[in-house]
Amino acid sequence: MPKLAIVYLSTQGSTKMMAEAIAQGASEKHIDVEINNFYEWDPADVARYDAICIGSSTFYYTMLEPIAKFMDRLIEIGISGKTGAAFGSYGWSGEAPIQIAEKLRNAGVDVIDPVLRIQYIPTDKDLAECIRLGKDIALKIKKKHQ
Ligand SMILES: Cc1cc2nc3c(=O)[nH]c(=O)nc-3n(C[C@H](O)[C@H](O)[C@H](O)COP(=O)(O)O)c2cc1C
Repeated sequence: MPKLAIVYLSTQGSTKMMAEAIAQGASEKHIDVEINNFYEWDPADVARYDAICIGSSTFYYTMLEPIAKFMDRLIEIGISGKTGAAFGSYGWSGEAPIQIAEKLRNAGVDVIDPVLRIQYIPTDKDLAECIRLGKDIALKIKKKHQ
């Protein structure tokens, strides 16, 4: 069964809520999903997944530094050819998910649209979008691994 890793960093839980909804959507399409706070996870392990979904909230117009460092390690190990997605909660400018998507693309990852950005705490409608993204990722990797 194809496997999806969802890695995130969230200060007050909004990006975490998004991560959990993405995981729910992907599980509904019957793939293996592992969701974890990045610091509980070895990048070498994450690099073994078929798809990698990365989330960070935006702080001072950028992604949170530990996520940037985690991504650098992942890219060093090599994630070219994998499927990816980027997401995150933000307040006013919301650069982090866009930067994550760009970093993934530059590393040769096939990044799924949309790059999902939600302002502050996700509403039910926002969470439905996250669930949709989870399903889309699952369908894409299932197709790739047929
Ligand atoms: C100190 C601080 C700096 C922030 N800087 C930005 C920023 O530059 N751009 C932005 O869009 N949001 C900014 N935010 C808002 C957060 O991204 C927003 O509150 C988000 O919902 C936090 O999500 P999280 O709970 O997943 O960490 C900032 C928040 C704080 C507390």
